[in-house]
Amino acid sequence: MLIGAPATDREKNKMQREQWGSRFGFIMAAAGSAVGLGNVWKFPYLVGENGGSAFLIIYIAFMATIGIGLMMAEIGIGRYSQMNPVGAFRKIAGRGWSWAGMLGVITAIIIMSYYSVVGGWTIAYFIDTLSGAVVGGTPDELGSKFGALVGDTTRPIIYDVIFLGLTLAVVIAGVSSGIEKAVKVLMPLLFIMLIVLVARSVTLEGASAGIDFLLSPKWDEVGMGTISAALGQSFFSLSLGMGALVTYGSYLNKNDNIRSSASWVCFLDTAVAVLAGFLVMPAVFAFGFNPGAGPGLTFITLPAVFSGMWGGQLFQAFFFFMLFVAAITSSISLVAIPVSYLSEQFHMSRVKATLLVGAIVFVVSIPCSLSLGIWSDYTLFGYGVLDLLSNTVDWYLLPIGGIAVAVCAGWFAYDKIAAELTNHGELPFPLLGAWKFIMRIVAPIAITWVLVGPFLT
Ligand code: PHE
Repeated sequence: MLIGAPATDREKNKMQREQWGSRFGFIMAAAGSAVGLGNVWKFPYLVGENGGSAFLIIYIAFMATIGIGLMMAEIGIGRYSQMNPVGAFRKIAGRGWSWAGMLGVITAIIIMSYYSVVGGWTIAYFIDTLSGAVVGGTPDELGSKFGALVGDTTRPIIYDVIFLGLTLAVVIAGVSSGIEKAVKVLMPLLFIMLIVLVARSVTLEGASAGIDFLLSPKWDEVGMGTISAALGQSFFSLSLGMGALVTYGSYLNKNDNIRSSASWVCFLDTAVAVLAGFLVMPAVFAFGFNPGAGPGLTFITLPAVFSGMWGGQLFQAFFFFMLFVAAITSSISLVAIPVSYLSEQFHMSRVKATLLVGAIVFVVSIPCSLSLGIWSDYTLFGYGVLDLLSNTVDWYLLPIGGIAVAVCAGWFAYDKIAAELTNHGELPFPLLGAWKFIMRIVAPIAITWVLVGPFLT
């Protein structure tokens, strides 16, 4: 909203504000945002690097308390204000809070810059599997195929542009006729594909070592680093701490039950992450890959699962298509944040705002992609551009955003958000007291501890 804009404009804006067509549509959109590369690509390699199921247990504990609580708060902030994150924080908690929304807008652009690069890899792999270029090979051969793609100069950037272009097209089409339509088809498809693929992976010969790895915690490997990684990942995976759910919540119908929708989204997100673990780890062990192999793990291991079997190429293509679906439903929500900000605060048309965001993201994504190839020598604190941005988001920006949401919801706007969570007293919420305690005390302390912990050890 422009300062001093005539009231009639504001009212027009409100009347024109779109809404999700149905509760199912909202849950699929929010789950689409949450379920993404974070679940299928990042989660399995983090589990691999951080001692298997001990990480999983800590992760689930964070999800079930702070994660779900913050998700309700964010959706509540959005629905209360019916605005983009900057306007939303300002409306619900006062002028001094706009920075929290602005942090979200900036974080969204940063995440999108490397997310679109990885999203581009999924398209490249999908096309390669269809054409038979990824069909089989030893772990080393599959590893060098991955290295050749991500280290190339032009190819990943071309796919990055395709991925970004598809995302922008859906966002331009609008909330209910673009985003909601797409996710209502894509998300159920993703769940079905995942279940079929997991069934294949856990029945591989030698899969049981992978299943053991996921089910027997190694507590001696757990340190402060594991706990930070689990919290950072739970925020990233649930799309928390950066305004995505404030934005999606702002299109939510006033009669919807926020508590139950948020619970569904958390459940689906966790279920997909755990299933992705059961997809990747059995294969890692069955084929003798290294579970701590890092970011290449999913791309390198999965082709091996299906190579050599009947219809294997088709399954490979199926897998990378699923990864693409997971990625694009998340990137749509990332782009929607700055787009809602620009179009509402600066009265820009949706098309113009989307194209502007696309242009900025594209420019930042180029160094991200090149940092894995010809620019790999340019580092800061030992990290290339992509890793630097991704770590800054996970370690600092999302936790700071999370603290802001918790403090705002617990201390500054408790009554307004509590009214949203109970639909002004119409819906019972027996755990409201616990939610308040988590927002006021538990979340700010736990997140601050995780944020500063690494500096103290
Ligand atoms: N939650 C997404 C994932 O797991 C990433 C994401 C983060 C999307 C923040 C939107 C906002 O991949």
